[in-house]
Amino acid sequence: MSYEQTKYWSVDNFSGSEENLQLIKEAALWITKGEVVAFPTETVYGLGANALDERAVKRIFEAKGRPSDNPLIVHIAEIDQLRELVSDIPENAHLLMKQFWPGPLTLIFKKKEAVAPSVTAGLDTVAVRMPDHPVARELLRAAGVPVAAPSANLSGKPSPTTAGHVFHDLKGRIKGIVDGGQTGVGLESTVLDCSKDVPVLYRPGGVTKEELEEVVGKVDVDPSLLSDDETPLSPGMKYTHYSPAGTLYLVREKERILELVSQAKADGKCVGVLTTEEENGRYEEADVVVPCGSRTDLASVATALYGSLRKFDEHGAEVIFSEVFPYEGLGSAIMNRLEKAAGGQTPL
Ligand code: TXA
Ligand code: MG
Repeated sequence: MSYEQTKYWSVDNFSGSEENLQLIKEAALWITKGEVVAFPTETVYGLGANALDERAVKRIFEAKGRPSDNPLIVHIAEIDQLRELVSDIPENAHLLMKQFWPGPLTLIFKKKEAVAPSVTAGLDTVAVRMPDHPVARELLRAAGVPVAAPSANLSGKPSPTTAGHVFHDLKGRIKGIVDGGQTGVGLESTVLDCSKDVPVLYRPGGVTKEELEEVVGKVDVDPSLLSDDETPLSPGMKYTHYSPAGTLYLVREKERILELVSQAKADGKCVGVLTTEEENGRYEEADVVVPCGSRTDLASVATALYGSLRKFDEHGAEVIFSEVFPYEGLGSAIMNRLEKAAGGQTPL
């Protein structure tokens, strides 16, 4: 499928005006007609299609070049919509939904037949979340169907946090893009399997493990998040993700970054450094220095992370050295994405 022109609906600075709602309705209508449309959520941009329509869902996989064994998250606007998607809602799930929905938490349930087979990639479970973004919520309401949506990037590339990123990756490959400005959280939702007695964390994200445990007590962690030798329980987590074109290395010591930059420059390479506001100005020898938020506020690092990784591509960086962050709270999600972007390598 190829589109000469991908439609563009701007609802940046969304106010809920009649004009805003009209544009969102138009985008939603294409979803009900079986097309794929990108839209903002509070985490990253998603690429949505009717989750009950197998042909529409297949178009998502085509547009992204996504492997067919990687299941999608279904987005809903109202809790009532869960009933047509899942066969059982455990007590833990009720508690978590009450606390974190709408918000950046995806829950995995036993699925019902109505869900299009490609959404779940043959699994008997389905991932569902209720996004907390006014544009996403209006779009989901207007479409009136549950919407399957992965991040709206080409498979393997960093997830899009602006409509510009979506354009860059998918222009001509999708029906349209709803532009709602830059997304807030900046990293994808937390994925938690609550179909098990003790919930299992598959992907760290906007809601931290610590926050989950306050609500449901113990949460297990997929062993693959802690060791490279394990196969991930969630199919998507096995793929290299979020990668810039240059080779990315994570480095614990800032002094070591300075040495590595010098060596790479001596080898004639275009060198990038991912740093934070606190250290900006330190790596003068590098060609591209991207400050990514502030260490005193990890949420600002998360918000800026994917846009920062894309900047290295814009400047043609061949090797990139990145500072590291603490493996706790939101830092766990940031380090998970950085390690994936670095091809699974743990910090030097
Ligand atoms: O924040 C987000 O979650 C964004 C926005 C658009 O909502 N979406 C997103 O989707 O990140 P995607 O497709 O890029 O990531 C979905 C992840 C993948 O790692 C996939 O393998 C996992 O969720 N997943 C989906 N269904 C699953 C299931 N039934 N069992 C285990 N993992 C599942
Ligand atoms: Mg993705």
